[in-house]
Amino acid sequence: MEHLIPSHRSRPSDDPIFALNGEANARRAAGEAIVNATVGVLLDDSGALAMLPSVSEALRAVPPAVAAAYSPIAGTPDFLRAVAHDLLGPHAALAASAATPGGSGALHNAISNFVEHGQAVLTTSFFWGPYKTLADEQGRSLATFRTFDKDGQFDAASFDQKLHEVLDAQGRALVLLNSPCHNPTGYSLDGDEWERVAAVVAAASAKGPITVMIDSAYALYGARSLAEDRDRILQMADHAQVLFAWSASKSFTQYGARIGAIVAFCPDEGDRRRTASALSFSCRGTWSTCNAAGMAAITRALVEPELRARVDAERASLKALLDRRVTIWNQTARAAGLVYPRYDGGFFTTVLCDGAFDVAAALKQDGIYLVPQTGALRVALCSVQERDIPRIVDAISRRLPSA
Ligand SMILES: Cc1ncc(COP(=O)(O)O)c(C=O)c1O
Repeated sequence: MEHLIPSHRSRPSDDPIFALNGEANARRAAGEAIVNATVGVLLDDSGALAMLPSVSEALRAVPPAVAAAYSPIAGTPDFLRAVAHDLLGPHAALAASAATPGGSGALHNAISNFVEHGQAVLTTSFFWGPYKTLADEQGRSLATFRTFDKDGQFDAASFDQKLHEVLDAQGRALVLLNSPCHNPTGYSLDGDEWERVAAVVAAASAKGPITVMIDSAYALYGARSLAEDRDRILQMADHAQVLFAWSASKSFTQYGARIGAIVAFCPDEGDRRRTASALSFSCRGTWSTCNAAGMAAITRALVEPELRARVDAERASLKALLDRRVTIWNQTARAAGLVYPRYDGGFFTTVLCDGAFDVAAALKQDGIYLVPQTGALRVALCSVQERDIPRIVDAISRRLPSA
C-alpha cells in the first residue's frame, strides 16, 4: 500500500548540489585529482573548512544552561536587536523580526506569510535551487524574470514585465532578490540598479501588495557593503514590504549552527506588531525555536566591541583569500573568452553557456565538478584552491560547445 501522498512519491531525496559534492569527494578519496567546485562553503587553500576562530570560541563559551534552555519562539530580544541593527542601522527600531534556522528559515517564513497557497514567488531566472524547493514544499511555485539584459546588466525591464504579470494573475507578489554576490551568478546590484528596482516596485504597487525580500546571505563578501545601498532599498517601503533574509552561515562561517533571521522593515507601528506576530506564529508552526547557543554566541559577536573587532579582522582575511581567487578568475577567464556576469566578489561565479548539463557531464571526465543549470555553469570559487583556477578555466573553455 502506498502511504505517501501522490505529489510526494517521486521527490528526489538529495539536493542535486549535495549529490554532486558526494560524488566528487568519493572520487577524490579514491585517489583522483578532483577539483570540487560544487558546494557553497569557504575552504582555505589547503582544502579545509575556513572558520572564524573567535566565533568558535564564543560558541564554546556559551553557558551550558543558556545552550540547553529553550529560547523565546521568535528568538532572543538581544539577538533580534543586534541583527536589526546590522541590517537597518539607525532604523533598527522599525524592525519586526524572528530568528530562523539560517537564511533558509527566513525564506521559508517569507513564503508562508506573503504569498497565498498556490501562488508564485518571483525571482531571477538564475536562482539558488532551494528557492524552488522551499516554494514547492509549501504549495507555492516559482516564477522568474530574465536575470540579465543583452548588455549583461540586471534586466529591470523583464523584472517590470513579470512583476506586472504576477500581480495581474494573483493580486500580490513576493520577490526574492539575492544581492550582493548572487548565487549562482556572483552578480551584485549596484546603486543605479537598486534605484531601478525601487522604481519598478513603486510603479507596479498600484496593482496590489508587493513584498521584496533581499536575501543577504553573502552580504559580507561583496565588493560593496549592503549598508551603502540601505537607503535605496528602504525607500521601497513607501510602496512595498521590505524584508531581509539574514544568515550567520557564511558571515560567521557557522553553516551548521543554523542561525538566521527574517527582518521586516515596518515603519508603521500596527503593521510592525501584526507582522512580528505572524512571523513568530510561523516559527512555532515549523521549527518552534532556534538554536539558543548559536544565537547567544552570534549576538556577542555582533555587539561586544572587542569580540566583534576580532571577528571582523578574521573575516577580512577570509575575504582577502576569496578576493584573490576572484582576481585570478577574472584574469584567466576573461583571457580565455569565457562569458560570465560582472563578478567582483562572493562565493560563486557562473559561466553562461548552452548545453550546461552536457558540459558539466564532460567536465566530470576531466575531474572537475561544477553545478549546471539551464544556460549556466556555476563555479563555487569559495571551495576551490587558488592554484586550481587556471585548470578549471582551461577545461571549461575546451569543453564548451563552440570550442
Ligand atoms: C542564495 C542563498 N540564500 C540563502 C542561503 C541560506 O543558507 P543558510 O540557510 O545556511 O543560512 C544560501 C545558502 O547556501 C544561499 O546560497
